[in-house]
Amino acid sequence: MPTEPFDSFALRYDGWFEEHRFAYLSELEAVRALLPPRGEGVEVGVGTGRFAAPLGIKLGVEPSKSMARIAETRGIRVVRGRAEELPFDDCSLDYVLMVTAICFVDDPVKAVEEAYRVLRDGGAVVIGFVDRNSQIGREYERNRKSSVFYRDAHFFSAEEIADLLTRTGFRNLSFVQTLFHRLDEIRGVEPVKEGYGRGSFVVVRGEKPGC
Ligand SMILES: C[S@@+](CC[C@H](N)C(=O)[O-])C[C@H]1O[C@@H](n2cnc3c(N)ncnc32)[C@H](O)[C@@H]1O
Repeated sequence: MPTEPFDSFALRYDGWFEEHRFAYLSELEAVRALLPPRGEGVEVGVGTGRFAAPLGIKLGVEPSKSMARIAETRGIRVVRGRAEELPFDDCSLDYVLMVTAICFVDDPVKAVEEAYRVLRDGGAVVIGFVDRNSQIGREYERNRKSSVFYRDAHFFSAEEIADLLTRTGFRNLSFVQTLFHRLDEIRGVEPVKEGYGRGSFVVVRGEKPGC
């Protein structure tokens, strides 16, 4: 089960952000670059709230109790649930954010369809992920089987995520990227650049054209 390591090692997961502070801050700025500046939104797979809290997102969905508890201490209201079955009405939100969560869900197609369903006309899905074809992505994939967290992960390329979004009906895709070095070589906050193909952490935004 992809949530099992998060249940058992939530604090260890959360500690990664302290150990890799510059990588974290770079990812945070990349997400911020494409996140709608206002509106009602949710982070799905909110984890410990490391993104939702500084981005001002008050609502999260998370299946792991231990992760959710930490997010709650950061002021987020967490609904226990899964990306594949969002506990929200049709056309009820302005944006859905997922950060490093699409690689853990059991059914990514259903997860993206659910994001589409709950978004209002013109609403946006924003997905941050480690590009499988990047330096860090290849390293994660190589070491996947020995990683507590990534053992059951399924990493995607930027093209695969783009395909998933367009097939579901999302339009006007835009991309930004960051993390241009190996994790152990990152010495400061890295720039956020348009597009994908060079940075290991990619964020894509797609818009729902209308209900
Ligand atoms: C790598 S963590 C990312 C957490 C947070 N978004 C962050 O970036 O720090 C992946 C999260 O996805 C959650 N997850 C696993 N399967 C899920 C599913 N089907 N629906 C929603 N979240 C899921 C895990 O419990 C975990 O908290």
